[in-house]
Amino acid sequence: MKSKFTVSSFFKAKENQEKITMLTAYDYSMAKIVDGAGIDSILVGDSLGMVVQGYESTLEVTMDDMVYHCKAVARGAENAFIVGDMPFLSYHISIEESVRNAGRLIQEGKAHAVKLEGGVDVADKVRAIVKAQIPVMGHIGLTPQSVNVFGGFKVQGKDKAQALKVIEDAVALEKAGAFSIVLEGIPEKLAKIITEKVSIPTIGIGAGRYCDGQVLVIHDLLGMYSGQSPKFSKRYAALNETIKASVEGYVSEVKSLKFPEEKHTFSIDDQIIEEITR
Ligand code: KIV
Repeated sequence: MKSKFTVSSFFKAKENQEKITMLTAYDYSMAKIVDGAGIDSILVGDSLGMVVQGYESTLEVTMDDMVYHCKAVARGAENAFIVGDMPFLSYHISIEESVRNAGRLIQEGKAHAVKLEGGVDVADKVRAIVKAQIPVMGHIGLTPQSVNVFGGFKVQGKDKAQALKVIEDAVALEKAGAFSIVLEGIPEKLAKIITEKVSIPTIGIGAGRYCDGQVLVIHDLLGMYSGQSPKFSKRYAALNETIKASVEGYVSEVKSLKFPEEKHTFSIDDQIIEEITR
């Protein structure tokens, strides 16, 4: 039987060279399924802005959105370690606001940790949140909240200056007390250097094979997102097609009176029918 995954399990996994598994989930039902399937950690990612809310980026997602989805996930997950994403502008204004917002994801959302994007630039916020006894997962490389600065969702760390910057960010997060770091959209060899350099586990998404763990957006894995899936994700199912075919079947059976059948109905005593229609 799987036991609860905790912050120490992250460190133990790195030490034992066991890969950490992480997936996003945004609601109770999906959290229950992925938790039951044995996932180590669930990320309530602000990617929900794109795959659940239909925005073109994650920038519109609010703290209230994140709290709402964290709460739903927390009710569905028994053993997985839940990480709540801090949305755009929730940790940029001041240290005080950052700690308060991180606290909401823990206190109201029932997450076990928070994740925020950035390295050197947010190290002071990470330090303060950790000081408030809230575990922090960093996120560097292709950080989606910086889409307008990057000019699109572009792989980061390909030239020397960028590569050095990503390494510097990783070291700054470790020093600030983060317990792990998501490495997104960076070359595999750079991710390997960082994974060997820092003592905290790295979780890769589009960062190759050498990270200490992997994370994917559940809609990409299940083939449920109608937008373009990134090159680094892998589809393990084609639920888009399954769902569409199921809905078409339902529509057709309702129209042709094939659904519902007698077995889907509830009965009532004929005597009562007679009395109420007399
Ligand atoms: O929001 C999210 O789902 C993420 C992952 C892509 C790491 O941050």
